[in-house]
Amino acid sequence: MCGIVGYCGPGPASEVLLEGLKRLEYRGYDSAGICVDVDDELKVIKKKGKIKDLKEIVPEDLDGHSGIGHTRWATHGEVNDRNAHPHMDDSGKVVLVHNGIIENYEGIKRRLKKEGHTFLSDTDSEVIAHLIASLYQGNLEAAVRKSAFLLKGTYGIAVMHRDEPGTIVGIRNGSPLVLGIGDGEMFLASDVTAILAHTKQVVYLEDKEIVTITADTYRTSDYYEQEIEKKIESIGWELEQIEKDGYEYFMEKEIWEQPESILRAVQGRIDREGATGHLGGLNMTPRQLLNIKRIYIVAAGTSFYAGMVGAFLLESIARIPASTELASEVRYKNPVVEPDALYFVVSQSGETADTLYAMRELQRKGATVLGICNVVGSTIARESDGGVYIHSGPEIAVASTKAFTSQISVFYLLTLLLARMRHLSFEDGLEIVDAIEKVPDQIKKILEKTDTIRSLAKKYARYTNFLFLGRGLNYSVALEGALKLKEISYIHAEGYSSAEIKHGPIALINETTPSLFLVPDDKLRDKVINNIKEVKARSGKVIAVAVEGDNEVAGIVDDVIWIPKTNPVVYPYLMVIPLQLFAYYCALELHRDVDQPRNLAKSVTVE
Ligand code: AGP
Repeated sequence: MCGIVGYCGPGPASEVLLEGLKRLEYRGYDSAGICVDVDDELKVIKKKGKIKDLKEIVPEDLDGHSGIGHTRWATHGEVNDRNAHPHMDDSGKVVLVHNGIIENYEGIKRRLKKEGHTFLSDTDSEVIAHLIASLYQGNLEAAVRKSAFLLKGTYGIAVMHRDEPGTIVGIRNGSPLVLGIGDGEMFLASDVTAILAHTKQVVYLEDKEIVTITADTYRTSDYYEQEIEKKIESIGWELEQIEKDGYEYFMEKEIWEQPESILRAVQGRIDREGATGHLGGLNMTPRQLLNIKRIYIVAAGTSFYAGMVGAFLLESIARIPASTELASEVRYKNPVVEPDALYFVVSQSGETADTLYAMRELQRKGATVLGICNVVGSTIARESDGGVYIHSGPEIAVASTKAFTSQISVFYLLTLLLARMRHLSFEDGLEIVDAIEKVPDQIKKILEKTDTIRSLAKKYARYTNFLFLGRGLNYSVALEGALKLKEISYIHAEGYSSAEIKHGPIALINETTPSLFLVPDDKLRDKVINNIKEVKARSGKVIAVAVEGDNEVAGIVDDVIWIPKTNPVVYPYLMVIPLQLFAYYCALELHRDVDQPRNLAKSVTVE
């Protein structure tokens, strides 16, 4: 999604903006630009391409102390210099950057054209600049407020006016915007990573809120000119957490960080004495938790697959009927909300539009919706009826890795909590607790032996189709593995339930379509081995992720990735690591942009 940075202060605005945009690169983008107020002129510099390309055309002596910047992830209008942000109106007096989608921009554009406005770009965002200029009567904040009543859609906007040097107005409706409070300087950003190097004091804007900043002041208000007192919060991250710390890619860093991030997710939440989980933030009494008759988990992408692991755990261990639903489907299916059902939305960024809108629709229908998020203060985290932070630390790479294992950690704890309230015995609960506590060290063992996986990536990276197959608790892990390979290596990969392969996909099998099977030593192992034999009988190449010592599996497949033996209930943790690594090494082999894969954004804040 688009990235926004705004700055008012004594420093060199162009440097602050470019550095902030660099930290937003992980969100995914295709063009970038800045506008700096130089001697009361608004200088706009923008182009298709990366921040480094933009930097090359920014004059060294661009001396301004307020400005706005943008990284664009195209929604309207092709990727070119013209459509890059910031956008300016005809008069050159209003300049803005926008994240979101304006649904009624064509009608507004037609009217403004009749009033004599000429448009340079094909974007919906440029229309907002012209609209604000047409409403300006000496006060930028007032003009922005008036425009808000005419715009339909989602927006996070930062806007400047030539007649109000040193002032930036921000407005939020559906796309995140955060105010950073510095010492004699103020910041606006679409997320805190852009400003963490300068301040940890932030104010999160809510939808339909406006903020006006200068170097020393800020004012938050609503669409009806009412001033709003907003809470100043402190960002809990350190700068080095959003830097690579010597790794080549953020994805590499975040894969290797999982032993620690899983520990952070479960820290203080495992109750050994009670062999249960302890989750603050659910905002539900034990009685209310005991009365839950059904659980729905709503999410998108990797978070959806983490939710599938959660649903399987909750139904198989806590014996509560549980299912997952794609967020993008829930919003428009007119869902029936059951009074004794509990809903979870899972979102690393806490800003995914599909998931946010699904949550709001469920809440409109009376559902209790709890959020499982990573980003503190994110929209979903703030609007949910409670929830649990996964504490995985900032996940910068577009491909989600450590968030997945932290998300399933929360589901393991939730399952323990709900199961032990019902029928799970202390002894059985303790077995699960023991298994969870061994996971970080077991993952470290896998991470110590990545040569095999790297060599398999070299061997298989040029195949153009893959099947990922898993059963039961590991079926969703197979889906997640396929997504990882797709999104960062661009190799087509499909995840399937191992048993399902004979109901059609086996037609795809030949020597050009390898299959990767997850083969835990659980009760379904022999059936998975049968599935493998069905593939081998048709000349299909097979890679198995199998448990150390399982020589029978090694004897029937082409290649094996070993994982430590453990309690089958926690194999999703151990199975997903090799799949993350396989995708990562294939992407390296194919010289892909690992952290910012083409066409993708870290947080999809548009539908
Ligand atoms: C996963 O690697 C992708 N980046 C994507 O599927 C992501 O999981 C999805 O967009 C959901 O994002 P969220 O967890 O921030 O809501």
